[in-house]
Amino acid sequence: MSRIVSRIGRRIVVADERGIAQAVEVLRRGGIIGLPTETVYGLAADATNDAAVRRVFAVKGRPTSHPLIVHVADASQLDTIAVDVSDTCRVLTAHAWPGPLTVIVPANNTVSRAVTGGRDTVAVRVPAHPAALAIIAQLGKPVAAPSANRFGQVSPTTARHVADDLGADIELVVDGGECEVGVESTIVDCTTPQPEILRPGAITAEDIAALLDPHGVTLASEPTGESRAPGMLARHYAPAARLHLVEVGAPLPHASAAVLDCSHDLALVARTLYASLRDLDRRGVHDVNVLLPPPRGLGHAIRDRLHKAASPR
Ligand code: TXA
Ligand code: MG
Repeated sequence: MSRIVSRIGRRIVVADERGIAQAVEVLRRGGIIGLPTETVYGLAADATNDAAVRRVFAVKGRPTSHPLIVHVADASQLDTIAVDVSDTCRVLTAHAWPGPLTVIVPANNTVSRAVTGGRDTVAVRVPAHPAALAIIAQLGKPVAAPSANRFGQVSPTTARHVADDLGADIELVVDGGECEVGVESTIVDCTTPQPEILRPGAITAEDIAALLDPHGVTLASEPTGESRAPGMLARHYAPAARLHLVEVGAPLPHASAAVLDCSHDLALVARTLYASLRDLDRRGVHDVNVLLPPPRGLGHAIRDRLHKAASPR
C-alpha cells in the first residue's frame, strides 16, 4: 500500500459521536471531508464558505461551472436557501426526504454562486444517513457536496474508496459503512410547472408520477436514460475496463470471459455497481460484457450509469 493511502488511512474516522464532532470541527474551520450518505460518499464543505467550496472543485478537478448539491438536515432548511418553492416540489420532498431525491429550486440571494456554478437555481437534498444528518445539524449550516471521486471517475460507496481516490487532499473521511443505495440521487427540476427528471435514481419515475398524479401534475417527459443535468458529460462514472452493454437475450457482443450481470436483483446491483466497476480495474480486466436491466424502475438509473461508463473515451 502506498504511503499516501496509509496516511489518509489514519484519517478515516468511525461515524460515532467523536468522529462526527471531529468532522464538524474540520468543516467549521473551512476544511473538506468525505461524508457518508445513503447514495454515494460526498466530498463535503460548508456551503457558506466560498474558499472551502472552491477547494472541493479543485480537489475533484471539476469545472467551476458544474454546480454542487446542497445537503440540508431537514425539509424546513429548504426555505433558508430557496424561494418560490412550488407545491409540486413540496409533495415530492414530503414523500422522499430524507432520501435519494435532489430537487432543483430557485436560489435565494444567500446561496453562494460558487456552489451553483453561477446559476440562480440550487440543487438541494436531505440525505438518509444518520451520520450525514448529525454532521449537518451540528454544523448548523448547509453542506455542499458532489460525489467524492475525481471528475469523471467512478463514484465511491465506501470510506476506503474515498481514501483511495482523494488520498491526502482532504482532511478526513467519516466511515459510515457501505452506501445502501449505491447510485446517486434522482435529480428533479422543480423550477418549471411540469417537473422534469434530469438524472434517474432510486426514487423512480414511476414513484414520482404516482405522487404527482393525485395533484393533476405529470412529468415533463419520459426518462430517456440520458442524464441532462448541466455539466454532465457523456462519459462519466468510468472505469478503465471497456464495457460492452447487452440487452438480456441478445448475443454477447464480445468473446471475453468476463460478464457483469446487472439484469436482476436491481437494488443489489445498484448497491454494488460502483464497487464492481472498481473491482474490474483492480483485476486488470480489459473487456466485460454487461447484461443490462430492463428500462423500468431502478433499471433506468443503472442503465444510465452503465451507458455513461461505457461511452467511448
Ligand atoms: O446522491 C447524490 O446526489 C450525491 C450525494 C453525495 O449526495 N451527490 C452527487 O453530486 O451525485 P454530483 O456533484 O456528483 O452531481 C450533482 C449533479 C450535477 O450533475 C449537477 O449538474 C446537478 O447535480 N446540479 C447541481 N446543481 C444544479 C442546478 N442548479 N441545476 C441543474 N442541475 C444541477
Ligand atoms: Mg458525481
